[in-house]
Amino acid sequence: MINKVSIIGAGRVGESTAQMLAVQKLAQQIVLIDLDEQYAKGVALDIQETAPVYNFDSRLVGSSDIASIKDSGIVIITAGMPRKPGMDRSDVLSVNLKIIDQIMDGVMQYAPDSFVIVVSNPVDVLTYYAYQKTGWPRNRIVGQAGILDSMRMSSFIADAVNFSINDVQAMVLGGHGDTMVPLPRLTTVSGVSIEQLLDKESIENIIKRTRDGGAEILNLKQKSSAYDAPGAAVTTMVEAIVHNKNRLLPCIGLLQGEYGKNDLAIGIPVVLNENGMDRIVELNLTKEEQQAFDQSAQVITELTDEIQTLL
Ligand code: LAC
Repeated sequence: MINKVSIIGAGRVGESTAQMLAVQKLAQQIVLIDLDEQYAKGVALDIQETAPVYNFDSRLVGSSDIASIKDSGIVIITAGMPRKPGMDRSDVLSVNLKIIDQIMDGVMQYAPDSFVIVVSNPVDVLTYYAYQKTGWPRNRIVGQAGILDSMRMSSFIADAVNFSINDVQAMVLGGHGDTMVPLPRLTTVSGVSIEQLLDKESIENIIKRTRDGGAEILNLKQKSSAYDAPGAAVTTMVEAIVHNKNRLLPCIGLLQGEYGKNDLAIGIPVVLNENGMDRIVELNLTKEEQQAFDQSAQVITELTDEIQTLL
């Protein structure tokens, strides 16, 4: 059992994640790091006080001192500027890159053997930067996006077909943005492809709504981006690692030749277990799917190429 999970950034995604990790009893110690120490302590205490209801023994700690992550098994990075309505995820790159840069110094110093889960946006680019900066093996750094995107797609499908969400399995690859690649061919309800259950137009609408899923929430809430579903997605990853579940999940991993790409972090199906991103699973994509994937890769590569000029 990995004892200690640290979350950098006690904002809404950090808080939601901490709460779910505690409720699901996935860590003995959960550390929330934030520049605003009082706030982090407040979040930690608030969650701690839910323990009598949820019966967890996790201890929650709030701190502004990155040294408090010492010896964490898993470090989750949610810190950074969230986008405002009308902004693209890439619009926050220059600000968040500098934040991640500093955080990774602390992670390398205090939790050098940890698994890192990157959540801050633009998540593909920042995940790549975490690899580049640390030089760590790729199994130890993984970005969260595909699970969230698949959760959204599954929710829309369950609504459209009126079957239980339990039976829906969606697969979404590519970048976490406009070029995201939802794969209806590999999305099923109890093994039945949705292409047999829904007409083309309904599927197109679901794909579009999935791609715009984050913006839809942001436009409705105005005051905040999504955080409950992102927190649940991160919790799924932590659970897979802590319980060595060998789950096949879409996550952001570093490609080293897979899908015809090198040195690029993008959403692909991976196996998550006690080794972190144990391996990448290569799917046989159709020509159209591969083209959509290539286009998404191109957009991420262009942003990734900007990293050096922005630091
Ligand atoms: C979203 C943000 C968190 O997709 O990227 O909601």
